[in-house]
Amino acid sequence: MLYRLYTRILRRQLAGLPMPQHVAIAMDGNRRWAKGAGYDDVRIGHRFGAEHLELFLRWCADAGIKCVTAWVASPSNLRKRDAAQVDYLMNLTETVLADHVRRDHRWRLHVAGQLDLLPDSTARALKEAVEETRDRPDAADLTLAIAYSGRLEVVDAVRAILDEAADGGRSLEEVADALSEEEIGRHLYVPGLPDPELVIRTSGELRMSDFLLWQATRSEIEFCDLYWPAFREIDLLRALRTYGQRKLQRSR
Ligand code: IPE
Ligand code: MG
Repeated sequence: MLYRLYTRILRRQLAGLPMPQHVAIAMDGNRRWAKGAGYDDVRIGHRFGAEHLELFLRWCADAGIKCVTAWVASPSNLRKRDAAQVDYLMNLTETVLADHVRRDHRWRLHVAGQLDLLPDSTARALKEAVEETRDRPDAADLTLAIAYSGRLEVVDAVRAILDEAADGGRSLEEVADALSEEEIGRHLYVPGLPDPELVIRTSGELRMSDFLLWQATRSEIEFCDLYWPAFREIDLLRALRTYGQRKLQRSR
């Protein structure tokens, strides 16, 4: 009851404030949430976390956010965690995340990351969902960053530029001359998206940890102490309010 009232008040406060076009979210703290909630199997945290993204997307859509990037896992998460956890996470990606975007026509899916690190079935499910959602008119853009590292994204972009140059028979001097921020931007995993003006990281960690290295150089960053499955709509609305107030102040 009070919660609903506070949500309404926050929504009203947002009405006059500048909003980000693109919000990025690092969904951290799923296993700590599971432990805190008394589950012995920390994978339950990942299940709640994956389902929580559906809610988050609804709140974003309601707030008029047209572009969301959600970080699912880094290459080192996939390499270093035990196989049962990684298998479960991949299964959730196929059965919860990819499926949700197929059903929810408000979103067009993109995938960012080293897809060759994923099991075939996961890479396939994501590619199919990307294809299926590509031509949705008026849909907002959702990027799942999976097996994603910001540094490796820049490395992959430079590699793609060099590969294209080699295929086109261009010299290294020509490539060097043409190198620019825009050229690298065009070779990122999902070119053409606006940079995220707001990045949110949950779970109290005060690090960017290689998320959106290139895109987030000018972003506002909101660190939230809650574990991801406990993140509420009011926490998103508060982050948007802080963003809007700071942006307004800067423009004065
Ligand atoms: C983030 O939650 C999701 C992944 C990296 C897969 P964690 O699994 O990192 O949960 P914590 O941070 O250990 O609690
Ligand atoms: Mg973590």
